[in-house]
Amino acid sequence: MTDFAHKVIILTDIHITKPGRTIIGLDPTERLRACLDHAARAHPDAAALVVMGDLTHHGVKPEYEQLQTSLADLPWPVHLMLGNHDLRAKFLESFPETPLDPNGFVQQVVPVGDHFLILLDSHDSQTLPFHGGHYCDDRLDWLRAQLDGKPPGSCILAIHHPPFQTGFPGMDLIGLENRDALNQLIAEHDAVAMTLAGHIHRTMWGVAGGKPCAVLKSSCHQAPIDLVSENSSLSIDEPGAYGLLILGTGGAVLLTEDVGLPSADVTEDASSK
Ligand SMILES: [Fe+2]
Repeated sequence: MTDFAHKVIILTDIHITKPGRTIIGLDPTERLRACLDHAARAHPDAAALVVMGDLTHHGVKPEYEQLQTSLADLPWPVHLMLGNHDLRAKFLESFPETPLDPNGFVQQVVPVGDHFLILLDSHDSQTLPFHGGHYCDDRLDWLRAQLDGKPPGSCILAIHHPPFQTGFPGMDLIGLENRDALNQLIAEHDAVAMTLAGHIHRTMWGVAGGKPCAVLKSSCHQAPIDLVSENSSLSIDEPGAYGLLILGTGGAVLLTEDVGLPSADVTEDASSK
């Protein structure tokens, strides 16, 4: 019997373009479809799908319309977040049913079993450099109110911009501008089990407020490991990926799945017995 009764599909940085437009020769819609098809075959019983921002590449209406088409008829409830490539107003024109916090930010709490996914909005169109993130006092107050009184280890935060320095100079230049305030809030609340993020297009793990923080790959294009360059747009054609969050009395564990590898056949290795 598993101690993880619930599954959540996690996607990030899907960067949908207008039909026919590619990114480094890759079609984001095709790559998203491959991830969704894989997840639907493997995990049709998941409780939800969360997409952690950079829903579109340019934040324009035709891209959000393409996204609507891509997300139709999925076996899971879909919860969308904003990234630096999104535009809040354009997003809400196409997805007006999206829950907002009282200040109009795209933030919500999604209960899954005894856990709570708390989806945060780090999108910022005011702070320079463009593409950096910000988590303002109003958003901090909202998050504090959600965390107060929740059981220890019951909350998983999801935010587009990782709240830790990644070591990628280009991405740290457009990181979460006031991450210290968010990390302090996380540290003060035993309710937080872990934080999930996107933005980097590379799997990595760090620490945010003394708790684990995982960064997931894009469903489309990835970032090379480059600890020198200040260029945040370096990209590489590696497989797209999605995350699988498993939740239950065992706690919260994040798995990752690369999609489109040459062979996905499962083979038993007799020499390992
Ligand atoms: Fe992105």
